[in-house]
Amino acid sequence: MPVITSIADLKRLHKRRTPKMFYDYAESGSYTEQTFRENTEDFAQIRLNQRIARDMTGRTTKSTMLGQEVAMPVALAPVGLTGMQRADGEIKAAKAAEKFGVPYTLSTMSICSIEDVAENVSEPFWFQIYTLTDDDYNKRVLERARAAGCSALVITVDLQLLGQRHKDLKNGLTAPPKFTPAVLADLATKWRWGIEMLQTKRRFFGNIVGHVDSAADPASLSSWTAEKFDQSLNWDRIKQLMDMWGGKVILKGILSEEDAEMAAATGADAIVVSNHGGRQLDGALSSIRMLPKIVNAVGDKTEVWLDSGIRSGQDVLKALALGAKGVMIGRAYVYGLGAMGEPGVTKALEVIQKELDTSMALCGERRIENLGRDDLLIPNGFFDTYS
Ligand SMILES: Cc1cc2nc3c(=O)[nH]c(=O)nc-3n(C[C@H](O)[C@H](O)[C@H](O)COP(=O)(O)O)c2cc1C
Repeated sequence: MPVITSIADLKRLHKRRTPKMFYDYAESGSYTEQTFRENTEDFAQIRLNQRIARDMTGRTTKSTMLGQEVAMPVALAPVGLTGMQRADGEIKAAKAAEKFGVPYTLSTMSICSIEDVAENVSEPFWFQIYTLTDDDYNKRVLERARAAGCSALVITVDLQLLGQRHKDLKNGLTAPPKFTPAVLADLATKWRWGIEMLQTKRRFFGNIVGHVDSAADPASLSSWTAEKFDQSLNWDRIKQLMDMWGGKVILKGILSEEDAEMAAATGADAIVVSNHGGRQLDGALSSIRMLPKIVNAVGDKTEVWLDSGIRSGQDVLKALALGAKGVMIGRAYVYGLGAMGEPGVTKALEVIQKELDTSMALCGERRIENLGRDDLLIPNGFFDTYS
């Protein structure tokens, strides 16, 4: 087994072991990928404030998210097609998260179904939906999530249409892949992926295929989703979806103070400051740059979390110190899954927790709730560069 010391190590293995079309699907942003790049570059500009002679014993990364105790305030974000990165990927990621003690979010666009995941874990997980127009589907899928014991609903509010990722078009992304000569040549070097995939039946969109008439054929799936995204979405409709669920709701994809205010006023239990990992509006600012203003606006009314660009425990510390109550990670765990399956997701979580713990100690901090602006050194004007 290779020695893994960082998320970057997992990313290298993910690239080596996973078909190009699925690695590229994860490792891309929309259009020029400016926002995708800046999500990580902006984290790197923020520095940590080294302190000494402060008692660092008895530290813990434990915290809560939505009142739920967590080993660290890092939840696994909803990621579509996870079961194409590795066979039964959603089940593997959910199991790793459960054992580690952090929340897992299942995407609507997953390969394993809600029921598949529920059968393989014992703790409740979270479920994510898009803002679709089809209320028959919405009601049925939410009923299934309730029946599976999901404890919170993530509503993704930044995807009323799909940001274009050039690589997906060029690679002809489908699930499962079509066996073109280029795909076959690529698969010849990814034999482990292929063998595992042959051993599972879960190769289609498990929450959709068989649950909507027009998507009985997976080939019609992309047109089904494209048709159903609600381009006329407004706050009344978001409220309707929240009421349809009736339980805890997290609104993911907020990037402005005004929208955060609306989300809080609409009753969101948590919001995720997010640009969808740079996959939607190319040219949007990084989540970390937008975070303090949003915390300032609504931090006392709802839990403010952040995602987009987190690749280390140091990044987690930076987000928490700027006022986030928790974070979500997408690619960081997908790299782990593509690299090594369930143990890879566990490894990703271990790496991040160890980095968070060590960095907290060297900043002189012992408790997540004590992290604050004093732990950071930030370039002058960093948050006011754009107006
Ligand atoms: C491959 C991939 C697929 C994604 N699929 C979904 C999805 O199905 N639903 C959703 O709400 N967000 C989806 N996202 C966005 C993530 O939930 C999250 O916002 C993003 O990954 C955070 O950025 P990070 O990858 O830099 O951590 C996806 C992200 C990636 C990388």
